[in-house]
Amino acid sequence: MNATRPTLLMLLLLALAGSASAQKAPVIPVAQVVALAETQYAALLRQYPDSARHPRSTKEDGTMLLTSSRNWTSGFFAGNLWYLARFTGKDYWRRRAAARTETLEAEKNTTNTHDLGFILNNSFGQGYELTQSPKYREVVLQASATLVRRFNPTVGAIRSWDFAPFTYPVIVDNLMNLEMLFSASKLSGDPSFAHLAKTHANTDLKHRFRKDHSTYHVLDFDPATGQLRKAMTHQGFADNSCWARGQAWAIYGYTMLYRHTRDPRYLTAAQQAADYFIKQTSKVADRIPYWDFNAPDIPDAPRDVSAATVAASGLLELSKYVKSPKKYYGAATAMLSSLCTPQYLAAPGTNNFFLLKHATGNKPINSEVDAPLVYADYYLLEALWRYQNYAALALQ
Ligand code: GLY
Repeated sequence: MNATRPTLLMLLLLALAGSASAQKAPVIPVAQVVALAETQYAALLRQYPDSARHPRSTKEDGTMLLTSSRNWTSGFFAGNLWYLARFTGKDYWRRRAAARTETLEAEKNTTNTHDLGFILNNSFGQGYELTQSPKYREVVLQASATLVRRFNPTVGAIRSWDFAPFTYPVIVDNLMNLEMLFSASKLSGDPSFAHLAKTHANTDLKHRFRKDHSTYHVLDFDPATGQLRKAMTHQGFADNSCWARGQAWAIYGYTMLYRHTRDPRYLTAAQQAADYFIKQTSKVADRIPYWDFNAPDIPDAPRDVSAATVAASGLLELSKYVKSPKKYYGAATAMLSSLCTPQYLAAPGTNNFFLLKHATGNKPINSEVDAPLVYADYYLLEALWRYQNYAALALQ
């Protein structure tokens, strides 16, 4: 046989390989984004060295918006630095992450917010995973003990906000704060934290989804009877619209709940939320969602890259738990691929040293519209970590 002349079998194999690669998910340039993050965050730390002031976004005048530890976003920058420590293994990033983390400690006793998971699990919780520091463990446990004080057994849920016009609001974002409670049960051996998280999730699951599996942002309960008063929005376009980041929190939240409980109802909820999100984003060429799927000015409505990164990270985890992972893996990598282009990814030295452009914080009050957001970057780095470390394996 002439080794240089292709046989029929070889031609068939080449054709098969060609069609397989045509369907292959895009390769995401993880190393390039990590290198960009190192450049941006090193510059940010040089310009804003006070480790008790936490980068959040860009103000309307173009300058950096820094917050105190009390802000719900304060834990994300420390989390981003922990991700850089993971990706690079460098002690430099560990030390920077630890410095930012430690200035958040006082929040472990704050009772007027449900966001203790965002603030302390993404900082101390992540730090504990990497360092096993007993001090970090103590903060996660104390923060969890504080958070459960907002639980009302009649409603069966943790209260989200304390302001009007709501009576006892439970928002979809609150699912994210439950992750810390599962960690607290693991770290302490006390199952009551996880039990309470499941009770909250079961209450949420009863009312969160419309028939088409889109989500309401806010469920407002009567705390005396536990009855649902109203399902409504706060950051979305309308009570009956679907706020894109809220849908992403639901994908991520129910997937995380399935990881901790293996309750198939949570997996179904995560898949249905994901299917709705994918159906909506498939209408957009680059798959990056508008801030609300029912925004009246689509296609001119602002995008929200934070909804894309939260969803991408959740979808990569979801792809581990389902029989046919390609749909979720494909949707996540399609979004990540767009996010890694110059349309969305900042050039070094620009964008106030954040990674992503074009997020939307709170459109109804025109706050942080078409701006960078520290939590968009956080879930980008987490999604890249998941992509690099396990998601591709789910497809083999
Ligand atoms: N947790 C607030 C937000 O998603 O904007």
